[in-house]
Amino acid sequence: MANTTMAAAQIFGISRMRQHQAAPTLIMCSNTAKGAEEFSRLINTGCKLVGCGSAVPSLRVTNNDLAKFIDTNDEWISTRTGIRNRRVLSGKENLTDLAIEAAQKALEMAEVDPKDVDLILMCSSSGDDRFGSAPVIQKALGCKHNPLAFDITAACSGFLLGLFSASCYIKAGGFKNVLVVGADAVSRFVDWTDRGSCILFGDAAGAVLVQACDIGEDGLFGFDLHSDGDGKRHLISTFKENETDDASSENPSMTSFPPKSSSYSYLQMNGREIFKFAVRVVPQSIEAALEKAGLAGSNNFDWLLLHQANQRIIDGVATRLEVPSERVISNVANYGNTSAASIPLALDEAVRGGKVQPGHVIAAAGFGAGLTWASAIFRWG
Ligand code: UT7
Repeated sequence: MANTTMAAAQIFGISRMRQHQAAPTLIMCSNTAKGAEEFSRLINTGCKLVGCGSAVPSLRVTNNDLAKFIDTNDEWISTRTGIRNRRVLSGKENLTDLAIEAAQKALEMAEVDPKDVDLILMCSSSGDDRFGSAPVIQKALGCKHNPLAFDITAACSGFLLGLFSASCYIKAGGFKNVLVVGADAVSRFVDWTDRGSCILFGDAAGAVLVQACDIGEDGLFGFDLHSDGDGKRHLISTFKENETDDASSENPSMTSFPPKSSSYSYLQMNGREIFKFAVRVVPQSIEAALEKAGLAGSNNFDWLLLHQANQRIIDGVATRLEVPSERVISNVANYGNTSAASIPLALDEAVRGGKVQPGHVIAAAGFGAGLTWASAIFRWG
């Protein structure tokens, strides 16, 4: 029973150090062979990250390019944000193709055949189709058995919520190979005349393959997940009816039908509030995730990998957590804020560049619109 309780504690993300105090009581309600099999899977299954990939658009836009049409300059942008370049979709490029490329690279690294993928989670708030793009990725990859594929919308926290969802599907649902894709094209809905926001964002896609394994090899150690709708007003792109459209009905009892044509507003952001929010909640969240993982303390992980929003936010969080800059992963200078893509894009570069090695432990955090914020402590490989 002690082993069962410990395994259950791991499944529910309870600290390894406090399992004896906090493990929930599990009551086995089924005495059928099937029930026993499911119970055994629940307590014996772990999951680990075995592949990653990324893709970015070909068009590179520098700070000096932006200064040609808005009142800004390279000095202001690079000092206040650390950003020097961003990639922006152009011509015939689209976000789904970037997501497919990133997913293909993750499968290749993991040496997993597309026919063995049994779930695709596309984390995005700016997809090519408002009904979601995950099934298109599934078809393009050649996943022959029509595995489940759907989208998750949670802005810049989307990828880590996808990672958490993948672990739940694997541990509780019996899924074996789950692709988590983070992809966003915020360039589509920023106001390119608003120098307070447009300088921050870029487009990209990143992906990881999360695979079921024995509980002893489990590489997802702890999560901390939050949202606060009260702060939503600080970062929005809301649905609105077009005021110029005069499609009112001739029937006076139905003056508001049929609805006017509609669209989403440009991204509107209170940068200072988002900045303060991030620097306040992210260190707390990472500390909570480390505690749940049984790894409290800044020396119990190898790399700090934050959502790439602003180098000053990354530095501020690293300082609060007492993590030296050599252990901080950052590529915000080259890509800007790519929303749900930023963490898997930076992870992929760090893995392929040889920084992150198999066995390294990463403390990651995403934060943004919603407001949402999420942290994860995981091992690479
Ligand atoms: O995924 C989460 C997404 N959002 C974020 O991460 C946003 C977090 N916030 C930030 O990164 C920063 O707040 C910004 C980079 C957006 C702005 O930096 P800031 O240091 O907070 O600047 P500020 O908004 O307080 O503006 C300072 C000054 C203002 O001029 P005055 O009023 O002092 O004369 C702005 O008008 O800088 C001016 N300014 C600019 N100047 C040149 C604002 N944007 C620009 C610009 N170029 N692009």
